Amino acid sequence: MPLYKKVDEAEADAELDINPVYFRELKLTVPRNKIPEHGMLPDTALQAVRDELILDGNARLNLATFVTTWMEPQAQQLMSECFDKNMIDKDEYPQTAEIERRCVNILAELWHAPGCEPGPDGATLATGVGCSTTGSSEACMLGGMALLWRWRARQVKAGADSTRPNLVMGANVQVCWDKFCRYWQVEPKLVPMVPGRLHLAGPEAVAQCDENTIGVVAVMGSTMDGSYEPVLQISQELDKLKASRRLDIPIHVDGASGGFVAPFLHQDLEWDFRVPRVASINTSGHKYGLVYPGVGWVVWRDSEALPEDLVFRVNYLGGNMPTFALNFSRPGAQVAAQYYNFLRLGFEGYRNVQQACQDVAMYLSGQIAAMGPFELLTDGSELPVFAFKMRDPVAAGYTVFDLSERLRTRGWLVPAYTFPEDMQDTAVIRIVVRNGLSRDMADSLLEDLRVQVQVLESHPHPPAPLMPGPDRERGGFAH
Ligand SMILES: Cc1ncc(COP(=O)(O)O)c(C=O)c1O
Repeated sequence: MPLYKKVDEAEADAELDINPVYFRELKLTVPRNKIPEHGMLPDTALQAVRDELILDGNARLNLATFVTTWMEPQAQQLMSECFDKNMIDKDEYPQTAEIERRCVNILAELWHAPGCEPGPDGATLATGVGCSTTGSSEACMLGGMALLWRWRARQVKAGADSTRPNLVMGANVQVCWDKFCRYWQVEPKLVPMVPGRLHLAGPEAVAQCDENTIGVVAVMGSTMDGSYEPVLQISQELDKLKASRRLDIPIHVDGASGGFVAPFLHQDLEWDFRVPRVASINTSGHKYGLVYPGVGWVVWRDSEALPEDLVFRVNYLGGNMPTFALNFSRPGAQVAAQYYNFLRLGFEGYRNVQQACQDVAMYLSGQIAAMGPFELLTDGSELPVFAFKMRDPVAAGYTVFDLSERLRTRGWLVPAYTFPEDMQDTAVIRIVVRNGLSRDMADSLLEDLRVQVQVLESHPHPPAPLMPGPDRERGGFAH
């Protein structure tokens, strides 16, 4: 969320003009940046806010976001029935807490946490260790903290220095990991992206590790291009490191998107708790978990992987509740909706939804590759997400930014951005295919893409785009 600053004097006095059509009260304007002295009728307020919001992009055409933009009416109904429930009031809403516990268990089983497979009677033998969060950012923060606490305890026990922790990851990680490092004063050891290797790999990860490494983050899959990082290979390289230098370094898997894709589409891929070095995994329920924002999940391999002194026990809500979270109050509706999706779709339903996304992603990427001016960096065969760049931007006479801008005139929100440090001269467009982007919509996008390419080819070197807002520069992106 942007950090808003105080508005200047002229702006402070600006007024919001209420459309006379909805006007039922005495005053036609209210201050924009201060609380109005008097209220207004609910319908007038509703309409005033709605009128502002029509300036937002159309969420269904937003191919920039990983986050769910469509749920079926029954899910919406369930969510509206739960809007008044606070997730933290576990004693007051014990059934919501039970549903959260079941969701953790379902994920622990899907991710092969030891002991969480169903026994002969279908019941799981152990309860998964984990919790819901506001999203993956909070879940990553909790996963990272567990790594930090465990490393510190090991160092203290060994009588070694515990003041200079570092975390090894690819430069392609999502901004939440930069935040984790800055907030907890952990040195980020970023493995640069290079042409031909756009994410972390085992040997490069291990080359950065030392006795102060609290863990390695492996991303399933990369925000930049949808590719999976090779968790098993990273783990095997870390095994060699343990054999040669006695450094025993755990892995946290950031499965913000892939945590809900790989179990359904890539069942044979070993990326989860089947890999013994994986200590914790996070995912976003509000991405391929198919729930409206904001819900995330984090699961630890077992209770040993989550240091007990990170867990707080509070009794002022009644009962004695263990909590590990950065937030206190949080909406319960998203957790209920997550459980709804598990029941509604089942394994087969999730697989069908993710497969449909992947089919559309691969169809789109294939068609785009065949157009001529573009080169694919990924094709959507891992996450249903792919990125492409101009084959020859100089000869083309336009950039991916121009194309992104032109597509916006038709309502498509398709981000263009440059890769991080060391590959900043590579500018790409990324398309995220989510539930709700049908093959028909994909054809409409392709049609618009062809038209806009033609326009740009016949009018090369368009002027820099004029977008509202002071920060709308062409360049990096940290989604
Ligand atoms: C790999 C990865 N990690 C973490 C996040 C942060 O997730 P959230 O938006 O759920 O906080 C994202 C968001 O795109 C992501 O792609």
